[in-house]
Amino acid sequence: MNHILHVVGARPNFVKAAPVLRAMRNAGLRQALVHTGQHYDRNMSDVFFTELEIPEPDFNLEVGSGSHAAQTAEIMRRFETVVLERKPDVVLVYGDVNSTVAAALVCSKLLIPVGHVEAGLRSFDRTMPEEINRMVTDRLSDFLFTPSEDGDRNLKHEGVSESRIHRVGNVMIDSLIRQLPAARSFPKNGFPDRFALVTLHRPSNVDDSGSLQRVLQSLIDVSGQLDIIFPVHPRTRQRISDFGLKTERLHLLEPMPYIEFLSLQSRAAVVITDSGGIQEETTFLGVPCLTLRANTERPITVEVGTNVLVGDDKDKLDSELNKILVGKGKKGSVPALWDGHTGERIARVIASL
Ligand code: UD1
Repeated sequence: MNHILHVVGARPNFVKAAPVLRAMRNAGLRQALVHTGQHYDRNMSDVFFTELEIPEPDFNLEVGSGSHAAQTAEIMRRFETVVLERKPDVVLVYGDVNSTVAAALVCSKLLIPVGHVEAGLRSFDRTMPEEINRMVTDRLSDFLFTPSEDGDRNLKHEGVSESRIHRVGNVMIDSLIRQLPAARSFPKNGFPDRFALVTLHRPSNVDDSGSLQRVLQSLIDVSGQLDIIFPVHPRTRQRISDFGLKTERLHLLEPMPYIEFLSLQSRAAVVITDSGGIQEETTFLGVPCLTLRANTERPITVEVGTNVLVGDDKDKLDSELNKILVGKGKKGSVPALWDGHTGERIARVIASL
């Protein structure tokens, strides 16, 4: 395999690509990195490159924010130029963000093979923009790298031939395992001993003023029982301010660098989130996770891990939280192949082409 192009754009992509880039470099493969610029704030992007030791991108498309159509189209327009110039043999895309689907579309029209890292996940909820991105990207991809058995099953159901599916494990857990020693020795920085760690950014939770107000009120109620540490995604901060909502008693912080956030996750009494990746990280860490969504594309975190879906059901949030606080929270185990070597398995598949 001559020349591999990796495409990343948003925060979770950086965490997923870092181990693959490292494994491919160690395998002596020729590669280049494209950052679409979907995430551009220092604390949403640069700091992840530094901490995860990701090389400087060879191309930065600087697309920035926009509507889904505008952002996706702009990534496609700018990325096409890179592909025509570089003529890669294969392009690797990560996760389920707009950058992922945009790059996959460009490549498939130019007849460049695409590998999708984190293929096969399905929430079966098409109101989630990420679900559309996952379905379309998988449909267009030649190499489908899945994290768990449910991913394989979903793809086979959709008629994908088995020869295209490679179950390699969870690449996000590679990054976690590598950075965990640094996270465990990270200074406590005045954070309390016992706290709930919260993240929130799904459009379904934050884009509607009523929904966001209800979630924030539930969290304010929880803060009667334990401190709430809440690093706020830029989208959510914008909505809180647009809607003029109250956040008293919640410790609102800027988005956090990876290692500090991992250190808080590993020490949290409970994590309350609507993120996808955090459901997986808490499962690996054995930390209870209450997910503020009605469904998940990562069912294995519920089946074998520490994750419980509470949706927007405040009573369920309260009762699950109470179980956790008295030490009766859900115990879980770590899924197969979430072992820190997924990047190497992907590199081996690509090297063998
Ligand atoms: C994107 C992904 C989501 C992922 C999340 C992780 C899609 C469809 N969604 O959602 O799957 O879980 O990233 O963070 O791709 N903004 C900034 N600075 C930044 C980036 C964004 O201020 O560096 C603000 C802008 O106001 C922007 C808004 O956040 O309009 C949303 O950003 P966008 O990248 O469109 O989606 P996310 O909500 O971050």
